[in-house]
Amino acid sequence: MTRHFLRDDDLTQAEQSAILDLAVEMKRDRWGAKPLAGPQSVAVIFDKSSTRTRVSFHVGISDLGGSPLIISTANSQLGGKETPTDTARVLERMVSAIVWRTYAQSGLEEMAASTTVPVVNALSDDFHPCQLLADLLTIREHRGALAGQTVAFVGDGASNMAQSYLLACATAGMHVRVASPVEFAPAPQVVTDAEHRAAETGGSVLVVTDPVAAVAGADVVVTDTWVSMGKEDEKQQRLATFAGYRVDDELLAHAADDAVFMHCLPADRGYEVTAEVIDGPRSIIWDEAENRLHAQKALLAWLLAANAPTAADGATAADVATPGN
Ligand code: CP
Ligand code: NVA
Repeated sequence: MTRHFLRDDDLTQAEQSAILDLAVEMKRDRWGAKPLAGPQSVAVIFDKSSTRTRVSFHVGISDLGGSPLIISTANSQLGGKETPTDTARVLERMVSAIVWRTYAQSGLEEMAASTTVPVVNALSDDFHPCQLLADLLTIREHRGALAGQTVAFVGDGASNMAQSYLLACATAGMHVRVASPVEFAPAPQVVTDAEHRAAETGGSVLVVTDPVAAVAGADVVVTDTWVSMGKEDEKQQRLATFAGYRVDDELLAHAADDAVFMHCLPADRGYEVTAEVIDGPRSIIWDEAENRLHAQKALLAWLLAANAPTAADGATAADVATPGN
């Protein structure tokens, strides 16, 4: 059974931790691992715009000894002209993994069900799990062990970032809180899934409408754009609805004294976050952006190992992917 990474809880707590360990090692020794030597190719497909994801996958695949194949849907047969299934069946004959930024999560699920090579979600309407691996790596670097820490996401609770925070932090044994207007609450099924995972890991989940209730005493405060890609038609209504959810110095004062601020970027400065906060001393956004590279390299190496024939012979992905093994 091919392992894919379509949502944050596709990994167990132990697997997530092993990938973060590998990312630390790959960051320390950037060109030391070449699991894509050959070079093997990885297809990275974009239905939506991107700067960080595009660059970090391109550079990361190159770092791993591979050949990145960056595809814009607008210039390909995918996206109305050919199904995800047919595309996947062609690509798997030529590439070692498929990375896809798209709209519907169901498209990723269809592609994953159709192919023997790993499929990675590079952002969908529902989740952004690669970003969360980078965010968890960054929290570890700045604040230490993940389990037991409290993260507060303020803003669009139905967004890919909020929903990935719920699943990824619950997987890590963290206490995750989301504050959003009631009409932009996370999907009930995602909250339920996060609660189940938190029950296994010792974490917890809290969904509220009051930003202060979410941020109170938090170790990490996070926000994201109020107008995600694909929601541009709702911009004016969203700006009005989210006006009380801006992360500013006043809101951040409710967090722990040593709390950090994170944002996946791109940011709409002055809307979901003030310039004072995002450019201030608690902001760790540039480390967060850099860690996309290291976290995704570790993910790709781990997935290749998890799907290698040796894994079927009894070796675990962590055995194979851990440098030195
Ligand atoms: N954070 C993130 O995914 O950025 P891009 O949209 O630039 O890839
Ligand atoms: N929620 C944002 C994330 C961008 C990286 C969006 O989907 O546009």
